[in-house]
Amino acid sequence: MNEHHHATPLSTNQHLLRWVEKMADLCKPDAIHWIDGSEEEYDRLCAQMVASGSFIKLNQKTWPGCFLARSDASDVARVEDRTFICALSKEAAGPTNNWVNPFEMRKTLKGLFHGCMRGRTMYVLPFSMGPLGSPMSQIGVQLTDSPYAVVNMRIMTRIGKKVFELIDRDFKRVVPCVHSVGAPLAKGQADVPWPSNSEKYIVHFPETREIWSYGSGYGGNALLGKKCFALRIASAMARDEGWMAEHMLILGVENPEGKKTYVAAAFPSACGKTNFAMLIPPPHFREQGWKIWTVGDDIAWIKPDAEGRLRAINPETGFFGVAPGTSDTTNPNAMQALAKNTIFTNVALTDDGGVWWEGMTDLPPAHAIDWQGNDWTPALAKEKGVKAAHPNSRFTAPAKQCPTIDPDWEKPEGVPISAFIFGGRRATTMPLVYQAFNWSSGVYVGATMGSEMTAAAGGTLGKVRRDPMAMLPFCGYNMGDYFRHWMNMQRNLSETPRIFHVNWFRKDKDGKFIWPGFSENMRVLKWICDRVRAGGRAKESPIGWLPRYKDIDWTGLDFSQEKFDELQSFDRAAWRAEVLGHEELFIDLHSHLPKELVYERELLICRM
Ligand code: OXD
Ligand code: MN
Repeated sequence: MNEHHHATPLSTNQHLLRWVEKMADLCKPDAIHWIDGSEEEYDRLCAQMVASGSFIKLNQKTWPGCFLARSDASDVARVEDRTFICALSKEAAGPTNNWVNPFEMRKTLKGLFHGCMRGRTMYVLPFSMGPLGSPMSQIGVQLTDSPYAVVNMRIMTRIGKKVFELIDRDFKRVVPCVHSVGAPLAKGQADVPWPSNSEKYIVHFPETREIWSYGSGYGGNALLGKKCFALRIASAMARDEGWMAEHMLILGVENPEGKKTYVAAAFPSACGKTNFAMLIPPPHFREQGWKIWTVGDDIAWIKPDAEGRLRAINPETGFFGVAPGTSDTTNPNAMQALAKNTIFTNVALTDDGGVWWEGMTDLPPAHAIDWQGNDWTPALAKEKGVKAAHPNSRFTAPAKQCPTIDPDWEKPEGVPISAFIFGGRRATTMPLVYQAFNWSSGVYVGATMGSEMTAAAGGTLGKVRRDPMAMLPFCGYNMGDYFRHWMNMQRNLSETPRIFHVNWFRKDKDGKFIWPGFSENMRVLKWICDRVRAGGRAKESPIGWLPRYKDIDWTGLDFSQEKFDELQSFDRAAWRAEVLGHEELFIDLHSHLPKELVYERELLICRM
C-alpha cells in the first residue's frame, strides 16, 4: 500500500468507525481504503484498472478522459428477480416486490459476505445524494470491493472528504450500503477483468434503511446510490417524512419572455427519459427564444416548501444512460455530455481507440471489437445478428458536461414543479397528450400507466405491462400505500401541479408511428406550459382535457388536422379493454388500494 492510499480513517464518527471495523471483520478484505474523492485518487484507481485489464483507456485525443469496461456476459443489467425488499412483514413490501423475512435474509447475507473480500481492497465510499448540505439531501456510505463502482459513483454522486466532514458534524443519519462482487481471491490467484458471482442478491431493509448487494458489479446493482438508495430506500423515507422519491426526469421550459416552467416526467425504463430531458426545440421555437434546460434524467426528490409548493432536486450528478440509439440526431446534448471524462460499459471498441454502438452513426465502422471482446464486422451483424454493443450498454457521464444543464440544477432548495407528466410506449389507445381533471384523477392516470413489452423484453408482443408511476421495480414498499401517499401529498400543497399523460408511440393502421417525436415533442410541452401558466385552451373528453388542433403550435411542421385527430382519437372499445386492465392491477393491490382510485375508475367508466 502506498502513502496515497488512505488506510487511516478519514472520519472521526464513532458509529461509522465501528461499523467499518465490523464489516471488515466479516468480509475480510486485504486492505481498507478511505475514499477522499480527489481527482488524483480517481486517476490512480482508473490507472490501476487499466493495469489490471478491467479498463481500456480510449484514444485520449478523440475521447479525452474516457475509459471502456467490458462486463462478464452474465452480469449485464439490473436483476429484478434477485431484488428483495426485506420489510418486517410481507404486507409492508406488498405484492409487487420480492420479500424475504429480514431475520432469514440477514442470516443468508452473513454467510454470503463472510470472507467475500479476501484478496481485495474494501473501499469506504461516502456519498451525498443531492447537493452537499442541502436539507433535501441524504447521505450514504458504500463499502465496496469494486473500484469500478467507486469511479462510477464519483461521476454519479457527490463523494469524498466533504461528505465525511458532514458525517462528522452529525449532519444526518447515514444509510449503510454494503457491496461485494462476491469473488474473493485466494493467495496468488489471478483476478479476472470483471469479477462477479452467478449468485446475486440486491437486498433492501426499508425499516432500518440498509442496503446489501452481492454478486454483481453492474449499474443499478453496484452503484448503490442510484436505484437502491435514491428510489427504493428513499421512497420509504419519503413516505414517512412527507416527501416523494420518484423515477422522474426534471426539465425547465424557458419561454420567449425568459420565464421558466419546470416539469417532472415519469416514463418506464427505456422509453426515452434521457432524450426528453435534453430536448432541443424545433428551429421556429428556438428562433422565438424557447429553450429546454436539463435538471435530471432519471430520479427526482420532491418536497413541499414553506409556501406549499413542490420543489425538486436531482439527487445525482451524472447520467447513467443507455448507449444504443444515442446519436447526434436523437440526442446531441447527450453526445456532448459523453464526449469526455466518461466511462463506457459494454459498448464496442473501434480500431482507432474510440467507441461505437448501434444507432450512433448511420454507417457502422468496417471493423470493431464487440462488447465481449470479439472481432465484429457489419457482415457478421447481418449474417448472424451479432450486436457490437450490448443493448443495455451504458455511458456514465458527468451531468455538468451537458450543454443544456440548468443553471439552477444544484440549487439546494430545488426547482419549483408546475406539472407532472406520465407516459409509456403505447401503439394504441393512448392519445399524444391529455390532461387529468384534477389531482386524484391524475394520480389514477399515473397509477394505471403502462407500456407495451417489446420483442427484446421477451414478453407477449404488444401486451401492456402496468408500471405505476414507472416505479414498479423501484418502490421500496407496498404499491397500494405508495398510491395513498401520492393522494395524501396534495393536503400539504397550496398549489397543486397539473398532471398530464403523453404517448409518443401511437401507430397507424400500417404499424407506422404517427408522431415524429424527439424535437417535435416541444409542441406538446408548449401546450402543457400554456395550460399551466396561461390558462391555455382545451376540450373536455371522457379521459381528461385534450388540446384541439388549433391549441398546438404547428409552425414548421407539416402535420394535418386528420393525422392529429387520428393521434388523439378516443377509441371506446380500446378504452374498455384498458379499464379492464386497470381492474386487474387493482385486484392485485386490493388490500392497500386507496378508495379514491376505485372511485376514479368508476367515474371514468361512467364518463365513457
Ligand atoms: C435505469 C433504469 O437504468 O430505469 O435508469 O433501468
Ligand atoms: Mn431509470
